[in-house]
Amino acid sequence: MTDDLKRAAAEKALELVHDGMLVGLGSGSTARFFTEGLGRLVAEGMKVRGVPTSRETAELAAELGIPIVTELLGPIDLAVDGADEVDPDLNLIKGRGGALFREKLVAAASKRFVVVIDESKLVKQLGVGVLPVEVLPFLWRTTAERLAELGVSLVVRGGEETPYITDNGNLILDLTVGGGIAKSADFGFELKKVTGVVEHGLFVAMTDTVIVAGPEGPKAIGRSSQPAGKYPAKPGDGAGR
Ligand code: A5P
Repeated sequence: MTDDLKRAAAEKALELVHDGMLVGLGSGSTARFFTEGLGRLVAEGMKVRGVPTSRETAELAAELGIPIVTELLGPIDLAVDGADEVDPDLNLIKGRGGALFREKLVAAASKRFVVVIDESKLVKQLGVGVLPVEVLPFLWRTTAERLAELGVSLVVRGGEETPYITDNGNLILDLTVGGGIAKSADFGFELKKVTGVVEHGLFVAMTDTVIVAGPEGPKAIGRSSQPAGKYPAKPGDGAGR
């Protein structure tokens, strides 16, 4: 059932893809349905190129014959990715699949960032589950201590003996924020100030559209305000939601 919903959201997002687009390809099980669908469109003759957010997605795209781009000369037209939690302002927690850093780079480089989810990902406030934070392995314990001073508890993903290593060669610390994350923008700034933090999984004011699939079918939810800190959309290019 969940897979059907994920697929339905991804198929809806495919309607936004047009010939000639440069498309950001997300990671995780929902984004996978999107990449598979894009592969189908490419097989049918559509000319698009993809920017993958993880090695796994890059491999999938290559298998499907989607041309890959990793060096950008301009913005990505459309990025489509999943999320772990989505709040009513369309702020996100991402990274439980471990690809948050490249996912955020791709989202930030995109004129339009579309999130595809099943309805179980909608939350009133972020922080229901863990918040992933990517940190440099060098002196990571001191980084963890400084993070803990923010009032969170944390674990090394995979455990200290056999830690999970990201595509960038880093560790992930999974933070539990007691009581949830009331002010996600402020908390994101606090995390970024901690030396040793490479990136965190809070995506604040980056999402343009969320496509959420429930039993009634997929529904698009848009953000009215102009995204902050994103690649500037050109006037009149249809990207200014
Ligand atoms: C990958 O690092 C994550 O950000 C995923 O996009 C997120 O975990 C959603 O994954 P699913 O679509 O598999 O739930």
